[in-house]
Amino acid sequence: MCGIYGYVGKNDAYQEVLKGLSRLQYRGYDSSGIAYFNDGFKIKKAIGTLDNLPQSVNCTPNIAFGHTRWATNGEVNIDNTHPHISYNKEFVLVHNGIIKNADIIKEDLIKKGISFYSHTDTEVIVNLLACLSGKIENRLEKLYKLLDGSFSLIIGYKSGDIYIMKKFSPLNILKADDGIYISSDVSSLKDGFLYSLNDNDLIMITKNDVIALANTKIDFKMHVNKIKEFSLGRFKNYMLKEIFETPKGIEKTYNYLQKQNVRKIFKHFNEFTLIGCGTAYHSCLIGEEYLIKIPKYKVKCCLASNYRVLKKIKRNHLHIIVSQSGETADCIKVAEQIKNFNGKILLITNEETSTMAQIADYKIITRAGKELAVASTKTYCAQVFVFIYISQLLLNKKFTINIKKFINDLEEYINKINVKSLVNKLKEKDKLILIGKDIDYALLLEASLKIREIDYIYTIPMYSGELKHGTLSLIDKDSVIISLNTSSDKSKLDVVKNEIKSRGGEVIAIDEMVDLSIISERFRPIFAIIPFQLMSYYIALKKGFNPDMPRNLAKSVTVE
Ligand code: F6R
Repeated sequence: MCGIYGYVGKNDAYQEVLKGLSRLQYRGYDSSGIAYFNDGFKIKKAIGTLDNLPQSVNCTPNIAFGHTRWATNGEVNIDNTHPHISYNKEFVLVHNGIIKNADIIKEDLIKKGISFYSHTDTEVIVNLLACLSGKIENRLEKLYKLLDGSFSLIIGYKSGDIYIMKKFSPLNILKADDGIYISSDVSSLKDGFLYSLNDNDLIMITKNDVIALANTKIDFKMHVNKIKEFSLGRFKNYMLKEIFETPKGIEKTYNYLQKQNVRKIFKHFNEFTLIGCGTAYHSCLIGEEYLIKIPKYKVKCCLASNYRVLKKIKRNHLHIIVSQSGETADCIKVAEQIKNFNGKILLITNEETSTMAQIADYKIITRAGKELAVASTKTYCAQVFVFIYISQLLLNKKFTINIKKFINDLEEYINKINVKSLVNKLKEKDKLILIGKDIDYALLLEASLKIREIDYIYTIPMYSGELKHGTLSLIDKDSVIISLNTSSDKSKLDVVKNEIKSRGGEVIAIDEMVDLSIISERFRPIFAIIPFQLMSYYIALKKGFNPDMPRNLAKSVTVE
C-alpha cells in the first residue's frame, strides 16, 4: 500500500514531492518521509499525515523523492518510516511492496557485521545493495535477482543520480517540460510523456537525462491528465461528500453503460465467478443474488484472498473481478493466475488506468468519480448498479429505466435520511448485531464492514434465521439489534423480531426509518445501504474519529 513519488527538474523538488505525495496519501498515512539532494541526500520524516512533515527545507533542491506509508513490516515509528539509508550512506531508497526473503537476507547481512535501525524489509534492500560489488548497474541487476517478492523502488545514489526499478508493483515515469516525475500511481501524474515500467526495467535519472540501462526499452507515450485537486465544497469530510455524490455517479455509470456493447462481452460465457475483496466482494454477493436467478447461468462468488486457480479454465467461464481501485494485490494475484490458465477476465473498476485494467480482457468502468475517503460508498452503489444492469441484459430484457426520475428519487431520498437518534443510541455501544434475509444479508455484510472500519464497533451481520441457533444467547435488555427488510413482504422478519423482544432486546428496523417503497425492489439495495453509510459516518464524528482516514486502513491494499 504506500505511495512513492519523485522529481528531478528545475522546480523546488521538495515541494513537488510534497504535492505528489499528497495525491498518494489515500494509499497510507501512518507516516511519511522525503529525501532531497543538497550536497548529499538529506532526509525528513514524520509520523501521521503529510501535514506533520516540514512544509519546506532551507534550500531549493532539484532532486527529491518520498514515501507515504501504510505499515506492513514494522510498527509505525520514525525508524521504520521511509526513506531508508544504507549503513555506509551510499544509497537512500523508498519502497512499495513486500520482500518475502527479507529475513533470510537480513540474517546473512547481520553475520557480515551490518546492523539495522528499523524492522523494515526496505532497510534490508538498501543494505543488500550497499553490500553488492561491481558497477552500479550490475549491482542493481543483482539486487533484482536476489529479491523475492514485490517492489517498486526509487533509489538515490550518493552522487545525486536516481535509479528506478520494479517487480509486481506499479511504477511510472513522466517527462514534462519542467522535469522528470516518478510515481507509483499514474493518476497522480500531470501532463507529459509517460512510461509505465515493466518488471526488470532499470532506469537511471540524472539532472539532465533519463537513461535506459541493461536491456530496458523506454517507450514514452503522450499522457494527458488534468490532475484534479479535490475540494470538500460544502462538506466536512470526503466520505459524506461521496455519499451525496452517489446519484451523479450512477447517472454517469448508466450513460457510460448505454454506450458500451455490454451484451457482447457475455456472448460466449454462461459460467461466472465473481471475485473481490472487502466492499467490492460485498457488491459481488449482491451481483450473485441477481445472476443466480437467471436459469441459463452458473454463478459463484469468491473472496480474492481465498481464491486459487488450480485447473484448466473452461472456455465458457468468465471471471468477473470487481475492484474500485484496480490495484488490490489479492485481486491482481488472482488475475495473474487466471491469465496463466488462459482464462478471461471482466474487470469492473472505478480506475480506468489501473494495473488490473491492463490485465483484464474486458472492462466495465463505474463512473462514480474519484473516491478519496477510505471507506467505499458511492463506488459500491455504482458496482451494484452495474450488476443490476448486467442481470437485466442476461435476462434478455432491455434495461429500461427513467434515469432522470431515478436520480431525482435517489437524491431526494438521501436528503431526507435522518439517522440522528439512531446515532445517539449506537455511539456508546461496543457491539452490534445486524439481521436480515436473502439479499439483505449481503447488504448487511457491507453495512457491518462500514461500522467496523470507521466506528471501530464489533458488528456481527447475521442471517436472521440463524439467530435462534446460538446467538440469541447474546441478547439481553441492553441489546440493540438492527434489522433490514427490503422486500415487499413486511412480515418477513416478524418471528425473529419477537424472539429478540421477548428477551428484552430492542430491534430497530432501518426499512421503517426510510421509505423504500418509492423504488422497485430491484433497485432497493442501492437505496437501502445509504442509511447505514450515513449512520457509520455520523457515529465516527460523534466518537471523534476522522471518517476519511480510519486507523490501520488505506484506500488501495497493494499487499497480499
Ligand atoms: C471498505 C474498503 C475495502 C475495499 C477493499 C477492496 O470500505 O474500502 O474493504 O473495498 O480493500 O478494494 P478495491 O475495491 O479497491 O479492490
